[in-house]
Amino acid sequence: MPSNFSRREVLRLLSFLSAGAAGVGSVPLISSLVNKANAQTSSVYVRENIATFMQSPAKIAALREGVRVMQTRSSSNPRSWIYQANMHGIPSNESRRLTAWGTCNHGSFFFFPWHRMYLYYFEQILRQASGDPTLALPYWNYSDFPDQRTLPEPFRNRLLPDGSTNSLYVEQRAPGINQGTTALASAEVSYSAAFQRTNFFHTSSGQQSFGGRRVTSSTHRGSGGGLLEGRPHNQVHTVVGGTSGWMRQVEMAARDPIFWLHHSNIDRLWGRWLSLGGGRANPLNDSDWMNDRFTFFNENGNRVTMSGSEIIDTVQQLNYRYDDAPLSNQMLLRGTGDTDSFSQQTTATPQILAATPMNNQQMLVELRETPVNLTLRFSEDQGARLFDRRTLQRSFLRLNVEGVEYNPRNSIPYEVYINLPKGVTPDRNSPYYVGRLALFAHPQKATFSLDISEAVSELQRLNLITGDSISVTFVPPAEEVNVLQRRDRTRQLPGVVRFERVTITTTD
Ligand code: C2O
Repeated sequence: MPSNFSRREVLRLLSFLSAGAAGVGSVPLISSLVNKANAQTSSVYVRENIATFMQSPAKIAALREGVRVMQTRSSSNPRSWIYQANMHGIPSNESRRLTAWGTCNHGSFFFFPWHRMYLYYFEQILRQASGDPTLALPYWNYSDFPDQRTLPEPFRNRLLPDGSTNSLYVEQRAPGINQGTTALASAEVSYSAAFQRTNFFHTSSGQQSFGGRRVTSSTHRGSGGGLLEGRPHNQVHTVVGGTSGWMRQVEMAARDPIFWLHHSNIDRLWGRWLSLGGGRANPLNDSDWMNDRFTFFNENGNRVTMSGSEIIDTVQQLNYRYDDAPLSNQMLLRGTGDTDSFSQQTTATPQILAATPMNNQQMLVELRETPVNLTLRFSEDQGARLFDRRTLQRSFLRLNVEGVEYNPRNSIPYEVYINLPKGVTPDRNSPYYVGRLALFAHPQKATFSLDISEAVSELQRLNLITGDSISVTFVPPAEEVNVLQRRDRTRQLPGVVRFERVTITTTD
């Protein structure tokens, strides 16, 4: 073991030095790595893009080994794969309620801090299980690079070339994901609406924020998700999980190894948002956000608690950073980067600009195996507001699906299109596409919302929106319908989704 360790150390240091030539490293970091053999804990771990990480067979092998070892542990062991996943959510057939199970935070401003803590302790357990003291969680960067939007190759195959089982593979994913044929679409992974926002949290429904609605205590399934939680977070869960895969269910999601790389990316995007400045900041004055404590287990299997105040600076407090930090001079915002114009965000209640008719609350739309097309009408006045350039630029236009009911373990991840012309084949890379009906950790009968500012302004630019109505089309992905029809030879199609109406609102 020890000799193996030092050889790996040297190799890692060499690759680190060459990465440094490309502007990634810094002198203090290198010297801390040199000292690592003696003072292992003083080094800063670097979470790398999986595209970089996977160039190293040794790193992939360590990741696989860590996952494999955790999977061999009993589910009552806090350092096991299943125990860790059950902390995120408890499967319906599980009767035990062990410490910290089912405690993930969704739909509120605890979403970001809770998942950061969760990843932090998981990473330490994984590192120890892998036997590689230099292992850090990679991240899946579907956001920045269109050519990295298919599932990373090391996660795709059940067996490795030598015939052994690939611990990074699970069968429970959407059909095209494991084959590498389904790529995430830009409308599913875009963070531009989230990054436009300068407020971390909001306080009442109808408002929007980057990080979610303010609550006073831990919230497992809230309805105040922030914009980044909606997209790319919920979108990616839904596309990868498909109709009934693990990633689309809160209680199973963390059993899929790609979950951890997805969340590593979400955690990275939090830091990127902060680095844009312009008033973007963590809610350091909010005592609940700062001081509420959450329970985890460390790499020794000991119960620990942590609060928001302890996870604000990942380098100083948690000893890790991302390989692209600090932010290079990329421009992340649409337009000129005139962030001042975005800092004045109003808190007005949302106004309905267009809606499907509602017949005395009796209208219930049921989505099944064929596309459903709905027409939303608007007045001249509403139309003027809808197409107002300032509204569009500020990402204030929302498409809302109200009163949604769905089966969280089994519901088709419908694609949503705006003004898709009759006879035109739905294409997720067309300007009509706005994303999935991404019902993940979503309470029943609540409102699902999607930012459509970017899509509407693009359709308007192309002259594809005219007149006094907008249509919204829900399309079940063909491959999902095929799977369902093959699997359940029943007349009653599972996976249906019901809702009351669709509206377009602005918070201007
Ligand atoms: Cu707690 Cu991506 O989920």
